[in-house]
Parts: sequence; C-alpha cells; structure tokens
Amino acid sequence: MNHHPVHHHAAPPPGPSTEAPLMLPPATETLALMQRRRSAPLRGLVEPGPTVEELRHMLSLAARVPDHGRLMPWRFIVVAGEARAQLGARLDALYAAQNPDLPASKADMWTLYLKRAPVTVVLVARPDPAAKVPEWNQVLSVGAAGMALTLAASALGFATQWLLKWPGRDPEAAALVGTKPGERIAGFIHIGRPVAIAEDRPRPALDEVVSAWTDQSSISKDTP
Ligand SMILES: Cc1cc2nc3c(=O)[nH]c(=O)nc-3n(C[C@H](O)[C@H](O)[C@H](O)COP(=O)(O)O)c2cc1C
Repeated sequence: MNHHPVHHHAAPPPGPSTEAPLMLPPATETLALMQRRRSAPLRGLVEPGPTVEELRHMLSLAARVPDHGRLMPWRFIVVAGEARAQLGARLDALYAAQNPDLPASKADMWTLYLKRAPVTVVLVARPDPAAKVPEWNQVLSVGAAGMALTLAASALGFATQWLLKWPGRDPEAAALVGTKPGERIAGFIHIGRPVAIAEDRPRPALDEVVSAWTDQSSISKDTP
C-alpha cells in the first residue's frame, strides 16, 4: 500500500497530525490541589517555613513556566531569616524619609511586614525590550512564574499570599529590595504554614469570563 519513498526532508502534511493520541490519565491530585488552593492571610502564615531543599524545589518548578524565546524574563529574590529584619529596617528608614509625618506606631511597619512570613520570595520582572520576543509575552511569563511558585508551595504543604505594596511599587524601595534598572517587582510571595484553611472566596461564574467565538461581522453583512 505504501509505495511512496520516504522523504526525510518533506514538509509535514497540512492539518492536524494523523498520529494516534496519547491518552494520558488525569492527574487527580493536581486537579484537587488547584481546586482547593487559595491564599492565606499574611497574619496566618507561620513557621516552620520551607527548608532550603523545599524552597529550591518550589523555585525550580516556578522556573519551568512557558517562556517565549527562553529569555528568563523573571528572577527571584529570597528574603528569609535575618535578612527579613535587615531589609525591613532599610525600608523603614526610606519610608520615614518619604513620609515625614509618619506616626511613631508605623516606624517599623515594613520590618513587621517582612517578619510575618517565614520566607518571602520577591518575584522580579526583567523583560528585555531589545529582544525579538514582544515585551508583553515576557511580562506574561512573569505572572506564570508567580502562579507556578504559588502552586508548588501549596503542593509542598505551605500556603502563600501574593502582595504588591509600597516596597514593590516605589522605585527607591525596590532598589533596596535588589532590583536593577529595567527590572520591576511583580510581587512579594509570602510563604509559610497556614494556621487555618481559609474559607474560599467567591469564584467567578464561568459565563462571566468564558464565551465562544462567534462571527460578529455576519450581523452587518446580513443587513443590506
Ligand atoms: C500581582 C498581585 C498583587 C497583589 N497585591 C495585593 C496587595 O497588595 N494587597 C492585597 O490585599 N491583595 C493583593 N493581591 C491579591 C492577594 O494575593 C489575594 O489574597 C488573592 O488574590 C486571593 O486569591 P486566592 O485565594 O485565589 O489566592 C495581589 C494579587 C496579585 C496577583
């Protein structure tokens, strides 16, 4: 039947592959984790934080997200242990300088903020505007890395809270956190053990966010 010679360099035929599908089984535990995962409030994140190995594990999973052009348009700054209070003190000093009327009760607010969670991973966007890959594609990969980290942390038994407050928004503060020119903080992902499983929040009804494409132009075409 197959009399055709094998053409190693022939282009594949157009249309879908004619190869048989791999019928992969559902990853039930992954589906359940994605279903139940939700953020824990920062106040409810406690020790013990991830071990060095656990942290490396979750970061390595976060670093295997879709990444157009393999540009690695993201990186992670780990703030843990003593570094939390050290960075906190630097941020408090800058915050006080920027806000001369700051009440004394807020003098150490960023130290307290960083000391709440055992570990904070700062997600940094570092898109290359000169790359052929559009910057938008690169930035989207950063968000994907944040979500992958969040899921990996949850899969290892931790909970997270992804926040982006003044230390991530203010350029001087972001520099204290460790960003270089051209970089932008995409979030502080706080990681710890949850003290409780937080009640879920309402999730969007699918009709609000899902639609099937229909040809809108046909409406005007049909009208003479
Ligand atoms: C990039 C980004 C920044 C956020 N920054 C804040 C923030 O500064 N303050 C806040 O209350 N929530 C912030 N959130 C939302 C919290 O992470 C929130 O707890 C989360 O959306 C709860 O949803 P979940 O239970 O599905 O994780 C941010 C979320 C994202 C994705």
